[in-house]
Amino acid sequence: MKNDELIVILDFYGQYDQLIARRVRECNVYSEVLDCDTSIEKLKEKNPKGMIVICEENNAACRQLKENFNVLEFNPEATPIVNETETIKDFLYNVCGCTGTWSMTAFAQESVKGLKEKIGDKKVLCALSGGVDSSVCAVLLNKAVGQNLTCILVDHGLMRKNEAKEVEAVVKDQYGINLIKIDAEDRFLGKLKGITDPEQKRKIIGEEFIRVFEEEAKKLGKINYLVQGTIYPDILESGVGKAKIVKSHHNVGGLPEHIDFEEIIEPLKDLFKNEVRQVGLVLGIPEKLVYRQPFPGPGLGVRVLGELTKDKLDILREADYIYREEIANAGLDKELNQYFAILTGLKTVGVKNEARAYEYVVALRSVITIDFMTAKIGKIPYEVLEKVSSRITSEVAGVGRVVYDITSKPPATIEWE
Ligand code: XMP
Repeated sequence: MKNDELIVILDFYGQYDQLIARRVRECNVYSEVLDCDTSIEKLKEKNPKGMIVICEENNAACRQLKENFNVLEFNPEATPIVNETETIKDFLYNVCGCTGTWSMTAFAQESVKGLKEKIGDKKVLCALSGGVDSSVCAVLLNKAVGQNLTCILVDHGLMRKNEAKEVEAVVKDQYGINLIKIDAEDRFLGKLKGITDPEQKRKIIGEEFIRVFEEEAKKLGKINYLVQGTIYPDILESGVGKAKIVKSHHNVGGLPEHIDFEEIIEPLKDLFKNEVRQVGLVLGIPEKLVYRQPFPGPGLGVRVLGELTKDKLDILREADYIYREEIANAGLDKELNQYFAILTGLKTVGVKNEARAYEYVVALRSVITIDFMTAKIGKIPYEVLEKVSSRITSEVAGVGRVVYDITSKPPATIEWE
């Protein structure tokens, strides 16, 4: 998306680029992160109002930039970048002369206009996952092309309690979007039978999702455009190429190979997550969906440890629902960045109804994080934990014990598999 005021972020350290880019945008000025090897000529073509270059003191490349552009320099070794908003604001408005044209209301309007011009009366297909990114994409496209948009929601049986229904209620009932909901639970569980290895589970779920999606898309005839809910951090993180793969992440909506479409459209590829949420609110999507916590593509498939069965998934769905309900009742839902239950697969001995019981252990996870790359444990008060534990063990048949995960990331990941 073109914007008349651009600030370029060049990060020679490679750690703070996204943080500073977000801070600039919070000041209503559009920012882009570019590779620190970008040539002066290429930078000039972009015509930025200014540049923020995160580097060591006396960095030669920074000195060269200063001869050509307005430059604000941060040296994280000397001054930690924690709260630099005032310095950034001063640079943007007083040094570079920015006026602050970047807003999510403007983004939504321009995006709808641009999509309308691009797509015209051609056909668009969108995979809905239930998450905020794909929902915002669907609503933007609906505003742009109306009935020429079709959404497919593949219910793989690994969603949370009521999730598919809630998405359907917003997409179909509130916005009148063409929605095809596929009940593929048996198919997925069939493919996953006997599989215990987490990576293999992820791979099967990802591949099967694409196959189901392709089969449904083929039935629709010619599709011109396919929509992907890619966001800016996905692009920045895949562009860096330095990070080691810890887990193969699967995003619902990953690229199908056998659908005949002309082009992929990624309406949110310039936005950070908080901006996607703001666009969602601008478009009138209910807060409950806009602030939905992140949910992995393989869903509860990586939260029921080991082999997946419908019984285990149903137990986890109920336990997780109670946990989320009590977190919301305690007013902690906006404070914690992610919180969920895990069915550990372990069984332990207990006493229920005056008899010996041998039932599952459920674990509770909660984290505080900015970027999900590192995370601290979310500290839930004991009274809340006690209530969750007592409700889960009395209301969910098959669970006899509840434990609380107190591990940060690293060394643990946020998900258990
Ligand atoms: P980890 O477990 O890697 O999770 O610390 C970091 C964040 O990513 C989410 N996650 C995924 N999201 N597809 C996704 O779209 C995936 O395969 C996947 N695995 C983990 C996780 O919920 C957390 O927010």
